[in-house]
Amino acid sequence: MAPSENSSDSTHFGFKQVPTDEKAGLVRGVFDSVAENYDVMNDLMSAGVHRLWKTAMIDWLMPRAGHHLLDVAGGTGDIAFRFLDKVKGDGTVTVLDINHAMLSVGQDRAIDQGRLSGLDWVNGDAQSLPLPDKSVDAYTIAFGIRNVTDIPLALREAKRVLKPGGRFLCLEFSTVEAAILKDVYDFYSFKLLPEIGRLVAKDKESYEYLVESIRKFPDADRFAEMIVEAGFHQVKYRRLSGGIAALHSGWRL
Ligand SMILES: C[S@@+](CC[C@H](N)C(=O)[O-])C[C@H]1O[C@@H](n2cnc3c(N)ncnc32)[C@H](O)[C@@H]1O
Repeated sequence: MAPSENSSDSTHFGFKQVPTDEKAGLVRGVFDSVAENYDVMNDLMSAGVHRLWKTAMIDWLMPRAGHHLLDVAGGTGDIAFRFLDKVKGDGTVTVLDINHAMLSVGQDRAIDQGRLSGLDWVNGDAQSLPLPDKSVDAYTIAFGIRNVTDIPLALREAKRVLKPGGRFLCLEFSTVEAAILKDVYDFYSFKLLPEIGRLVAKDKESYEYLVESIRKFPDADRFAEMIVEAGFHQVKYRRLSGGIAALHSGWRL
């Protein structure tokens, strides 16, 4: 990401430059539009692989019984549900998302799955978390951070709300490095995926934004540096599926 693309006045929204204060509203519009079809589209677009990545995230988190997880940009609950399964129901999750429609789909899913306790659904912004300092054991964010207008601010907020000894984990799309995979992935992303969005969700534009936003996100090394700059320690990452996604981990001391 070139520094000149992010001034205080303008920022990127996919490949477009937009006034900084308009980005959150545009992102909200995308997720209002995709919420109803979000889960089915995730399975379709990734051939189910997003499930493996999310499971890998919770495996790496290694949550303990009684832990309180804050899952930011938690959407329809995939990470929260995996966490609760991992701690066998003995834990709590605050699922925080800026978008009502995504949370509402998540709440319906929780009821359908008989998940009646351990979940708190909160409408809020990753950049100004409505939680006290040092209040959660772990912070996760899956496929959310690239949509946030001020990523360094969101990372500082993550550190603020984590207890000392708490863990930060981020799952996000990343940069494919192998040339052959890159060509196939580009073709799939720019040609096929928006068409799948048009046919299944009747919304090509939102899926174009999702693809473009992936390309605007920093590569895994740069994102690791940003996590360090926010004050986290022992920052590490793992590439998933040839770099299509990456899992970043850091600790609050
Ligand atoms: C691609 S979805 C990911 C949902 C879920 N974590 C998953 O992996 O299935 C991105 C989510 O980020 C949310 N989001 C975008 N900007 C946000 C912000 N500033 N604060 C909190 N949530 C945000 C969107 O509303 C959307 O639900």
